[in-house]
Amino acid sequence: MDLSRVRVLIDEDALRARIQDLGAEIRAEYGDAPVTAIAVLKGSFMFMADLVRAIGGEVRCEFLGVSSYHGGTRSTGVVRITQDLKHPIEGQHCLIVEDIVDTGLTMDYLLRLLQVRKPRSLKIVTLLDKPTNREVDVDVDFVGFTIPDEFVVGYGLDLGEVYRNLPYIAVYTP
Ligand code: PRP
Repeated sequence: MDLSRVRVLIDEDALRARIQDLGAEIRAEYGDAPVTAIAVLKGSFMFMADLVRAIGGEVRCEFLGVSSYHGGTRSTGVVRITQDLKHPIEGQHCLIVEDIVDTGLTMDYLLRLLQVRKPRSLKIVTLLDKPTNREVDVDVDFVGFTIPDEFVVGYGLDLGEVYRNLPYIAVYTP
């Protein structure tokens, strides 16, 4: 861990405020209906914890373990499920919770994986959206922050498993 290589991009106050708003926006979308939040591990664990509290009402929490294969620093879109959901999602309002959508390849795969399980609805929330790298069109329903094409760590996001526990989002410069 080398903090001289990181520069804060989104600080704790900004994260807290935006996630509160996102939660209200999401709750308004579903009304009083129960929502099944599906966190895509590992990156989204911290966002998930804060977001489900901000959504309020009845929120079921599911966790999907995925491991994407990266060719160099880029995602290849080949995704392996390392831990499946604990319960069926048929007939439920489902919300995929991601930390970042970059090429979109992971999300594209996950949408197809989950859609065949016949949820009542399937929406996406991502804390960070990096649209400059998009390789496949993904319809993201809720976005926390749109960020420039820089490598970010912290608040769940890692570099070689390090930096996930930073309480803010930072740009990492090698
Ligand atoms: C990250 C992130 C997304 C994916 C986005 O996961 O959490 O799942 O990459 O990239 P894409 O849009 O280019 O497909 P990563 O593979 O780093 O695993 P982690 O969440 O366990 O850190």
